[in-house]
Amino acid sequence: MTTHQLPATMTSLVQDSYGSDPEQTLRTAEVARPAPGDGEVLVRVRAASVDRGTWHLMAGLAYPIRLVFGLRRPRFANPGRNLAGTVAAVGAGVDGFRVGDEVFGLAAGNGTFAEYVVARPDRLAAKPANVSFEEAATVPVSGSTALQAVRDHARVRPGESVLVLGASGGVGSFAVQIAKAMGVEVTGVASAGKLEAVRALGADAVVDYTAEDPVDGRRRYDVVLDIAGNRPLHRLRRALTPHGRLVIVGGETGGRWLDGLDRQLRAVLLSPFVGQRLGFFVNKENAADLAALRELIEAGRVRTAVEHAYPLAEVPVAIRRLVDGQVTGKLAVTIG
Ligand SMILES: NC(=O)c1ccc[n+]([C@@H]2O[C@H](COP(=O)([O-])OP(=O)(O)OC[C@H]3O[C@@H](n4cnc5c(N)ncnc54)[C@H](OP(=O)(O)O)[C@@H]3O)[C@@H](O)[C@H]2O)c1
Repeated sequence: MTTHQLPATMTSLVQDSYGSDPEQTLRTAEVARPAPGDGEVLVRVRAASVDRGTWHLMAGLAYPIRLVFGLRRPRFANPGRNLAGTVAAVGAGVDGFRVGDEVFGLAAGNGTFAEYVVARPDRLAAKPANVSFEEAATVPVSGSTALQAVRDHARVRPGESVLVLGASGGVGSFAVQIAKAMGVEVTGVASAGKLEAVRALGADAVVDYTAEDPVDGRRRYDVVLDIAGNRPLHRLRRALTPHGRLVIVGGETGGRWLDGLDRQLRAVLLSPFVGQRLGFFVNKENAADLAALRELIEAGRVRTAVEHAYPLAEVPVAIRRLVDGQVTGKLAVTIG
């Protein structure tokens, strides 16, 4: 590994303590450039992205997050997880990546709102050749969550019907397209101003949840992907066929301790006693899924719905817009 020709310092966003206000919590600083250890890769970050998890990591909420990311203060410099960039150095024992390779994926911990970050080969893959760094950086967390929801947990089959609650957001915009690529009939749910965007992603039908109840039981689906809205289980079940599957992906409750986990656990407990299959999952990010997403993107079957790319210093603005519900699709961060 040779890093001596790389700069000793870099520009990075830094957070000294947990905080829910992005402008108060994140600042730009010149810090020491990290170096990869054995089995690690140093990436020159060209772009990053923002998702709901960025806010949770920044705020340290819900509290159980702190067991992994730092009890009293964050363990990592900043809450960025997604990256696209070029390999700047490789540690001992790394196969499959060489300096100069264009990659996308996840940081080893967090910290992608910076010029350099350390990543692990098992969460990196070659960047899709037909998209920009900004577009590629919006894929890892949201795209792999959508892929696992549709393929592994809902296990959709061609010809089935799927209701996607939260179709205009980060996870939802990928889920709509992945489900369509798997031959499914998709109904996407979002607010009125975002319905055209959901249609443009390929949804066969759209529902404005501010004007009508998408789970009133008038229409039943083989699969409900519950990405947003926190609707009670009995209402979600109304929208399922007698043997349909409910996959809970998320939903912002604002709860500081459980943040919706109680509803997810109730789904798992109830599932064995009803004809429908009810469950939730936590994304297991991995290189194989990144490669599968790259193939879908390069084949033109999935595109990234990047609404805007912000410079590094404006990450707080991006986070604020996302948590205020102002974003359609994904926000990227250009790092250079
Ligand atoms: N299980 C996992 O491993 C995993 C991984 C990643 C993310 N997540 C979770 O998944 C959730 C979504 O993340 P995201 O990044 O996709 O968020 P996002 O980009 O903010 O998107 C949220 C979407 O939900 C829609 N929405 C809001 N209220 C709704 C309602 N009442 N009914 C239907 N749709 C509604 C929004 O549409 P409008 O703006 O039009 O209201 C928007 O399309 C978050 O809770 C996140 O923490 C879980």
